[in-house]
Amino acid sequence: MGLDYVDLLLIHWPLPARDDFVSTWKTFERLQAEGKVRSIGVSNFKPAHLERLLAETDVVPAVNQIQLSPAITREAEREFDARHGIVTESYSPLGGSGASLLTAPLLSQLGEKYDKTPAQLVLRWHIEKGLVVIPKSGNPERMQENLDIFDFSLDRQDLAELAILDEGPAPATIRTQQGTERARTGFPRGFRVAKRK
Ligand SMILES: NC(=O)c1ccc[n+]([C@@H]2O[C@H](COP(=O)([O-])OP(=O)(O)OC[C@H]3O[C@@H](n4cnc5c(N)ncnc54)[C@H](OP(=O)(O)O)[C@@H]3O)[C@@H](O)[C@H]2O)c1
Repeated sequence: MGLDYVDLLLIHWPLPARDDFVSTWKTFERLQAEGKVRSIGVSNFKPAHLERLLAETDVVPAVNQIQLSPAITREAEREFDARHGIVTESYSPLGGSGASLLTAPLLSQLGEKYDKTPAQLVLRWHIEKGLVVIPKSGNPERMQENLDIFDFSLDRQDLAELAILDEGPAPATIRTQQGTERARTGFPRGFRVAKRK
């Protein structure tokens, strides 16, 4: 690559069928010790894979990059990472190419309140959750839009409301600030978000 060192090197996928991610990690540890890599991390690792690295190797991954968005929230995985000092990084944070997440009516409604676009609200959701977020855009205007998320915060009630976008198991109703229960409504017929890996 013509570089003196790499800032961050990740194992892309644990490939459990081959079961060689532990030996790959030991090679990463060596590259870091030699100064060729500043930080080493993983991607698409479940807690069970991380448990093995923690038990059988010396360096705790700096980062675990996983698919995350308001539609795919992976609370248990985020909690595991946090407990072990591993930074969780959200990939496909807007739902990925062709996803319908950004068309959710709730995002348009909240967008009017905050004067922000659906993408900005979703990216702010990641920030509120303490996640590192890596949206992709080939469009310079959207790149600028995606950076313009540090002048507002989502309040607790709105963060709670965004839980209706979670495609995982969720109650049919959500509790509002007033203590009443509200149906999970507001989605057009056939609304689907990106499939999780
Ligand atoms: N570790 C892994 O296994 C893994 C897997 C998948 C992805 N990733 C990484 O995750 C990053 C992003 O993921 P991704 O590309 O899958 O998904 P993403 O960032 O959630 O979504 C990208 C899509 O959103 C559009 N978009 C971007 N900004 C927008 C905005 N402000 N308003 C409306 N649409 C917007 C983009 O279109 P335009 O380009 O036209 O703006 C593109 O179609 C990449 O760096 C990728 O390499 C990692």
